[in-house]
Amino acid sequence: MKITRRAALKSSALTATALALRSSSLFSQASASVDAHIDILPDEPIGIISPEIYSHFIEHLGGVIYDGVWVGPNSKIPNTNGIRQSFIDTMRAVQAPVLRWPGGCFADSYDWRDGLGPADKRPARSGFWDQQEPNAYGLHEFMHTCRAIGCKPYLAADMRSLPARDFYQEIEYCNAPAGLVRSNSAAPATPNALAAQRAANGDVEPFNVDLWGVGNESWGCGGNLVPEEYAAMFRRFTAWTPSYSRTPLRFVAVGPNGDDVDWTRRLFKSLYSNSERRHLFGLSVHYYTSGSPTEFAGGDALKFSAGEYYDLLTRGSIMERVVTDHWAAIGNTQEPGQPQVKLVVDEWGAWYGKHTELAPEYNFSQQSTMRDALLTGITLDIFQRHADKVAVANLAQAINCIHSLMLAQEDKFTVTPAFHVFRMYLPHRGSQAVRAQFSAPAIPNPLADTPIPVGGNSYIGSLDAVKLLAGLSGSASISPTNPKLLTLTVVNPHLDQPIAAEIAVARAAIASSVATVLAEPDVHAHNDFAHPDAVHPSPAGTAAPVSGRLTHSFPPASVTTLQLTLA
Ligand code: AHR
Repeated sequence: MKITRRAALKSSALTATALALRSSSLFSQASASVDAHIDILPDEPIGIISPEIYSHFIEHLGGVIYDGVWVGPNSKIPNTNGIRQSFIDTMRAVQAPVLRWPGGCFADSYDWRDGLGPADKRPARSGFWDQQEPNAYGLHEFMHTCRAIGCKPYLAADMRSLPARDFYQEIEYCNAPAGLVRSNSAAPATPNALAAQRAANGDVEPFNVDLWGVGNESWGCGGNLVPEEYAAMFRRFTAWTPSYSRTPLRFVAVGPNGDDVDWTRRLFKSLYSNSERRHLFGLSVHYYTSGSPTEFAGGDALKFSAGEYYDLLTRGSIMERVVTDHWAAIGNTQEPGQPQVKLVVDEWGAWYGKHTELAPEYNFSQQSTMRDALLTGITLDIFQRHADKVAVANLAQAINCIHSLMLAQEDKFTVTPAFHVFRMYLPHRGSQAVRAQFSAPAIPNPLADTPIPVGGNSYIGSLDAVKLLAGLSGSASISPTNPKLLTLTVVNPHLDQPIAAEIAVARAAIASSVATVLAEPDVHAHNDFAHPDAVHPSPAGTAAPVSGRLTHSFPPASVTTLQLTLA
């Protein structure tokens, strides 16, 4: 499986991409001593980077909720009202903006009423993933989790097994004010029964949930529907809903599996065959990157060859194609009355086979290495480069699962390398994304001879093989409060080659820079319970700019954040 990287680089140096980019760059008289160029183009704004693209997801699955998030109020493990304190602290450390719950596939068999009221009276039921659901963690516990973190809730509604009435009553339970409710009617003001029930269950103040997933993976575990069937259900579920939310409701329609653009085209054709588009805010997109080039959710999280490393990052990079293909398939126009439907990539991450789970009952838990840190950086950079299209994105899943920020087992806890990347990308939040041109020789994917396996839990498809991985990739943004402060994030995927890049900002001079880098000599490096700080970022030295340009060396297999101050 090993590749000869030098041979790969030599041939990739001739790629048309690199040559085309270089000839159009600011560096027509480029210095011969650098390997790459990065042109930042502040005059080419893309859009404001939605803080919600750095969001997270928790599902009743394996050890995500029970043990990961919920330890119970009587636990010896430090907690706030039963919620693991280290989970809260870590989500606060990445300023998590949105948390999605209760699934995933779990959501479409879940009755939100089962998780209400005194814990000892709640029914235990069979839930998705062949597990017994004790219902100790329900709607109120989830809302308390969001409050403790300081993030917004994003609820996935059960569309497969509950009728539309339960959907709008869930909205009413969450959002109706307590006390006398005045209405658009001559009837006297009366208390709302669902709000009164919520208050009796301990929360007088409404939860004010605005973001709602209308089903999940309806092409698979959410009902095995075809797009036209789902569109009809979406219209019926959303034809009327209570309007108590302080902010307008945002409904997210179930989108495709991976790059299945046929689903998106047919869905929107069918949705738009009726002119009513109540609260249609976004299209959910799920794209997982398998650890194996040939099977979905395969490969080993810890043991991988150089070929498998490059292959995973190459397949992860086609998130860009997934984003642009579905954006085109939605076909947003400027017609009056037509919503600008955004992309909500509410499940993404690297998904490996069963080799590194914490214990058998921690279904889908997996380890996470520097390879996953690079995939995290590559993916967040893609979302930032498409700030005009991607409004929300949720890493799957926050703890003890596929591409987690944290691993926890009883009183043991660690963050993963992906956690550090989320922190390193914080300066981009709410900034103005601007185009940045990266000119570097691409890396041929040594395993690009088979179609790419894509899927979720319940559907497997494939995409054409992708042959090239960008030799350097990233994104740039301008601070919303200081036009002279730019953030540039960069991923160098080469396993053993530092890349020296000359960085220039069009019509401006770089005065100074500060860098933070996440890099390890061995890309298999990871944190575990015994070594929770084995992988962590460090400040990196930067050279003084020359003639307003900065030359910076990006270490092998690294993620870097550069804060550039303009003169
Ligand atoms: O994140 C795990 C599962 O992957 C989710 O439940 C489902 O939506 C997807 O198939």
